[in-house]
Amino acid sequence: MRVLVVGGGGREHAICWKLAQSDKLTKLYCAPGNAGIADVAECVPVSAEDIDGICAWAKDNDIDLAVIGPEVPLAMGIVDRLAEVGVKTFGPNAKCSQLEASKSFTKSFLARHNIPTAGYKEFTDKDELLANVGLYGYPMVLKADGLAAGKGVVIPENEADAIEAIEEMMGAKVFGSAADKIVVEEFLTGVEASMLCFVDHNSIVPMESAQDYKRIYDQDKGPNTGGMGTYSPSLLFNEEIEAQIRERILEPTLAGFKEDGLDFQGVLFIGLMLSDEGPKVIEFNNRFGDPETQSVLARLDSDLLEIFLAVTENRLADVDIKWKDDKAVSVVLASGGYPGSYEKGKVITGLDDVDDDVVVFHAGTKFGENGEVLTSGGRVLAVTATGKTHDEARAKAYDNAERIKFEGAYMRHDIGLINRR
Ligand code: AMP
Ligand code: GLY
Repeated sequence: MRVLVVGGGGREHAICWKLAQSDKLTKLYCAPGNAGIADVAECVPVSAEDIDGICAWAKDNDIDLAVIGPEVPLAMGIVDRLAEVGVKTFGPNAKCSQLEASKSFTKSFLARHNIPTAGYKEFTDKDELLANVGLYGYPMVLKADGLAAGKGVVIPENEADAIEAIEEMMGAKVFGSAADKIVVEEFLTGVEASMLCFVDHNSIVPMESAQDYKRIYDQDKGPNTGGMGTYSPSLLFNEEIEAQIRERILEPTLAGFKEDGLDFQGVLFIGLMLSDEGPKVIEFNNRFGDPETQSVLARLDSDLLEIFLAVTENRLADVDIKWKDDKAVSVVLASGGYPGSYEKGKVITGLDDVDDDVVVFHAGTKFGENGEVLTSGGRVLAVTATGKTHDEARAKAYDNAERIKFEGAYMRHDIGLINRR
């Protein structure tokens, strides 16, 4: 099979790395890819958000299956457009992609189907929202309805900060039109965990769990990032919580999709708050998580291409998805200054000094003029190791991450160490 993966981050590198192991694969392409993806796939210089370009290229190059990594092309309707030119695609269509592209769409879905989540109210008028400041008390959860590169949730601690945030979101429009509508939610307490699920029209099948570390500094301090590392399986889940998630969230979600005519095919990523009242949905994303995917796919035993095909043909229930017992830890190396401003173009050394069984997934890298590998993003690499225990995987990931150098490189030192129980 000729497969095209769309995207160019660590998640797409992990997907390409796993697909490259499939016997069914004859040729793998990635658009646009990055310097690490180039090891396992042929990179195609078309942006992931150039829908016309991707569709034309896929059609001209006889692609049998396209796999979409990021949320933006999904929300732009890339799956529907690829279907129009006869390319089978792993990923949800535009209608289903509203589950990530509109917080308000997801909240009404959750409420309609009695799926546990925070109470909420929507506002499209700044003055009306200002008149309701502190609606559920403080901290006040303010969410831009639309996509805002993972930054659209603001949680001010007091009234003055809330007013400032509302002015920025709806007045100065710092998130553009994404905050034309704001969802205000009750503040949930508990521990956060993510669950990725394969979904087709008949089934929802959770993958092995993973724990993400979103804050930039150790001990979960500092601003949110796209994710500074993960470990898998998460040590926050147990059989009781998993059963609650299945009965209260997964089963009603699948039933809700059917009832609402949402023909979801792809990955549903459920952000959860494990609260004293049980698990609650914080958000839905409609794609693999980054960097969750790096540690989850490192543990997948089965053929990923076979799973993708089964989903597109609605026969996911017939596939026996097998996972390795080994544990995985993935540590992100970021550019100094991230998630604020940072410099790009730093030479990366030590990439060849890593152990054979450790994988360095590239997130923000590109080739320089002389073939050297340069930094080109905030999150640069995700060093991913497996081991018999979480601690073995963690030690190996850090030992190898220390060998890779670039000016200003930053990593957290407590990935896989905290947020376990
Ligand atoms: P989201 O983009 O919806 O995942 O939100 C980003 C982060 O904001 C989450 O990972 C949580 O840490 C926090 N958050 C979102 N919604 C709530 C809520 N209702 N209560 C408490 N924290 C929240
Ligand atoms: N790691 C969080 C995300 O992919 O949205």
